[in-house]
Amino acid sequence: MRRTPLFIRGRFKGPSLQLCDLAALALRQSLEVPSRLLMGPGPSNAHPRVLAAQALPLLGHMHPHFFKIMDEIQGGLRYLFQTDSPYTLCISGTGHAGMEAVIANLLEPGDKIVVANNGIWGERVADMAGRFRAEVVQLRAPAGKTFSTGELKAALEEHKPAALFLVQGESSTGAHQALGDGLGAACRAAGALLIVDTVASLGGVPFLGDAWGVDAAYTGSQKCLSAPPGAAPLFLGPRAIEKLRGRGTKPATYNLDLNLIGDYWGWFGKRSYHHTGMVSMWYAMREALAIAGDEGLEAMWARHSQAHRDLWEGLRALGLEPFVEKDADRLITVNTIKVPPGIDFAALTAHAMANFSVEISGGLGPTAGKVWRVGLMGANATPASVQVVLAAFRAGLAAQGWKGAQAAPATA
Ligand SMILES: *Cc1c(COP(=O)(O)O)cnc(C)c1O
Ligand SMILES: *[C@@H]1O[C@H](CO)[C@@H](O)[C@H](O)[C@H]1NC(C)=O
Repeated sequence: MRRTPLFIRGRFKGPSLQLCDLAALALRQSLEVPSRLLMGPGPSNAHPRVLAAQALPLLGHMHPHFFKIMDEIQGGLRYLFQTDSPYTLCISGTGHAGMEAVIANLLEPGDKIVVANNGIWGERVADMAGRFRAEVVQLRAPAGKTFSTGELKAALEEHKPAALFLVQGESSTGAHQALGDGLGAACRAAGALLIVDTVASLGGVPFLGDAWGVDAAYTGSQKCLSAPPGAAPLFLGPRAIEKLRGRGTKPATYNLDLNLIGDYWGWFGKRSYHHTGMVSMWYAMREALAIAGDEGLEAMWARHSQAHRDLWEGLRALGLEPFVEKDADRLITVNTIKVPPGIDFAALTAHAMANFSVEISGGLGPTAGKVWRVGLMGANATPASVQVVLAAFRAGLAAQGWKGAQAAPATA
């Protein structure tokens, strides 16, 4: 049997030739991917219907049939963000691309932004905004804490910024930032845009874009929306659109220029090519939004909330405690669990993966080494997934000699 070489041979001598052969050999094996229950902070498992949608035939990114699919996505996003704004779209990229699009387009050089920084996401937005030459004021809170409306209002008054940035679901610390309570009105009164990161929260906890006076928000496909990573849905309200259209300078990014991407999504009338839309990814998003529509936001929120209660009932029975002190500050979708003294957090996550095929994560940024993070997002926010996580904790802790709840109060 003749085997066709996958790589050009003969040009390379010595070890590189051998490497090529090894690579060719590996690629001839069929692609095998183990099945994992992804209970970290993302990606979470995609819904089978979403994965199936991605296998549909490609369309051209400027075909009328494809534009219809894009229109349907925009309608679904209005529901998800709870906004009447016609200005919704998906950025081709992950949550970070949504973050960068919003920051790069809604701030001009010299504009001031107040970044509420209580974890890695505020940290990154502060970095990003600086790169786009904005003047960055950081409002800091310790990991696991959130900001009171009073504090935020005072910062608006003191700094008179062009924008205020908040993270609804701080997935590096497990904190949930409250957004209602007149914050939107205060931003309006101060002439500041209210920008919210909802990557780890949208679809899992209530978010009311218009009612809360949010001017711009973005999310990611792979967290509570049960799709693979690759799309960053966002919306801009009327004040954000006014800012975008009234800019004196072009955003310092061509790839993420929302005036141009908006044209592709039909925001301003005629459509024109900016980049090739991620055809199969948009099929996935349309299906994910259809699934969310079928279930309904309220039912989704209730399901996530139930999974969170089930998880903590089990974790507390094992003697584990939440990292976030205040009940009201606890994020439902990404749960941070204190690593008890004497327990090796990495050994537990390795044990869970090896013995249960379940992903449990360690901390990130300010919580690194201090917590485990368990995501309850999208299709994974179910009683069955929670039980697998609890079984993995039970076995993993027992393997390290943990005696359970009774052992917890004992001091060395
Ligand atoms: C995951 C996450 C992001 C980044 O999303 P990527 O898809 O990894 O780029 C941003 N913000 C929050 C709150 C997140 O949880
Ligand atoms: C899987 O579980 C067994 C039994 O607890 C344990 O001996 C083994 O170390 C575990 N695997 C890993 C990689 O932790």
